[in-house]
Formats: sequence, structure tokens, C-alpha cells
Amino acid sequence: AREGPRYRPRQVRPPRGRGSSVEVYFYGGQVTSWKNNFGEQQLFVSRKASFKPPKAIRGGIQICFPQLGNHGVLEQHGFARNRLWSVDESPPFLDTTFDCHIDLILKQSEEDLKIWPHSYELRLQVALSPTGDLILISRIKNNNADCKPFQFSFAYHTSFSVSDISEVRVDGLDTLDYLDNLRSKMRCNEQGDAVVFESEVDSLYLSAPRKIVTIDHEKKRTLVLRKKELPDVVVWNPWDKKAKVMPDFGAEEYNCMLCVGAACIEKPITLRPGEEWQGRQEISSVPSSYSSGQ
Ligand code: BG6
Repeated sequence: AREGPRYRPRQVRPPRGRGSSVEVYFYGGQVTSWKNNFGEQQLFVSRKASFKPPKAIRGGIQICFPQLGNHGVLEQHGFARNRLWSVDESPPFLDTTFDCHIDLILKQSEEDLKIWPHSYELRLQVALSPTGDLILISRIKNNNADCKPFQFSFAYHTSFSVSDISEVRVDGLDTLDYLDNLRSKMRCNEQGDAVVFESEVDSLYLSAPRKIVTIDHEKKRTLVLRKKELPDVVVWNPWDKKAKVMPDFGAEEYNCMLCVGAACIEKPITLRPGEEWQGRQEISSVPSSYSSGQ
């Protein structure tokens, strides 16, 4: 049933009683809460979010697979964020430096085969490090029985909780080419400084460095995002007009959220049967005196 235990979140807490914790839903394999070692919430989830189908959970970290946005023929951001995942009983990898973790898996259903005719395993490990960092590792495997390769895009669509969007800047993206969804995916390049927010932003930065830094001046907090095998970065804030027409987003909430997430979109990944891909995103939340040097 839709209201059953599989629609309730799982909590992950380190054994030694620090303030950090993570909450993960089977629905979408979605992280909806991440508190750092000081017990401070780092992620945004809308007060109007729905936690069951047909809508994906608004906020947290959405897993976009096998498509990002409307860059393809499938539903927006792919189907993984609208599916009920399961516990992965035999996770194939484990980094022993992680304090605690939860492992989820998604496989194709009969229904999905009609829209994306491939057999796959999508594994997600969500872990906390001893310093309270959040680590996400996804593994995608082509299980097609015939010789058919498949191609996909992927993103950790990550909504951070910020104090005031106009006090936030993102370092590491300046001078990069980006696709601007507000200008029909036009390829743009602005030789500016850090990315700041004064109006709606819906961009996909291409071939970004492995480290992207989001500085919240008001909270005096810096979110350091490190990524592997995910060259691109999605940056999104709907601003006031779009926020008002989104049924699962509070009209004023654009002011306290920012989506910055590792992605792979410009050059989709191709896997042959038996091949596996791994994409990783790690985030630390540190005081803002921290140097943002690479
Ligand atoms: C962004 C897209 O990544 O996600 C935007 O580029 C979109 O165009 C936004 O509006 C939110 O998408 P959704 O499907 O969750 O409303």
C-alpha cells in the first residue's frame, strides 16, 4: 500500500552519538535530510512536498536517471525519482572509513521496460563520514541479456537549505560554458566572477572542476561539493514567479533554497552489457573561514 512502511524514511546515525544524521526515502532513493556534526540541517525540503507517487519529493537529493531535465524523450528527470527502491542486501562495495551507511537498489520493472527497454541495476550507497560529510555513491550496471548497450544521463539534484539566496555565491563555475534552460538550452559563457542569484537560474555548467564551493555569507557556512565521474553541474532556483505556480513549492521558499548538484549530461554514459559505472558526490559543511582553494 502507498502508505505502508516502505513510504517511511530510514534514519542513518553514526554510532558515537555525534550530531550528524541522514534520512533516506525508498521513494526515489531520496535523501531528505542531512545534518552535519553540529546537528544543523543542510538540505531543503519544501513544506509542500509530497512523499508518495505520482510526484517526486520536492527537495533533498533527487536521483535523476536515466535522463536529466527534458534532455530526452522520457519523463522530466527520468523515472528513478518516482520509483520505490529496495534495500540492497548485498552491496558490492564498502568503504570502511564510513561511520554508517544505507544501501538501496533499483531495478527495471515490467512497466519500465516499455518506456526504457533495458535491464539495469542502479545501486546507491548513502554514507556519513566521521566528520559528518555526506557521501553518495551510485553504481549503474547494464544487465541486458542481448548485446545491447544503453546510454544514460545522471544527476544528484541537490537542494541545499540557505539563509537568504541573495547572500549566497557559488565558486568554481565562473568562466565555464553552460547550457541555459531559460534560453532554450543555449550554450553561454560569461566571464564573470562567482555565480550569484538575483533572478531565476536554470543552468547546466559543463566540464566543471571536481570541487564546487557554495558560500552562505549570512550563515557563515560553506558547502564543499566534491564529485567523481560527473563532469557537469546543475544550478537551479525557480525565483518568485515560478515558485508561485509550483504546487509543491511554497511561494517564498525560493529565498531559502539553492539547487547545486553533480551531473553527467553533455556526454551521456554508454554501458555495454556487464559494464558498470560509478558516480560519486561528497559534501562537507564547514565554517566560512575555510579557504575555497582547489
Ligand atoms: C532543473 C531543471 O534541473 O529542475 C528545471 O533544469 C526544472 O527546468 C527543475 O524546473 C525542477 O524540476 P522538477 O521536474 O522537479 O519540477
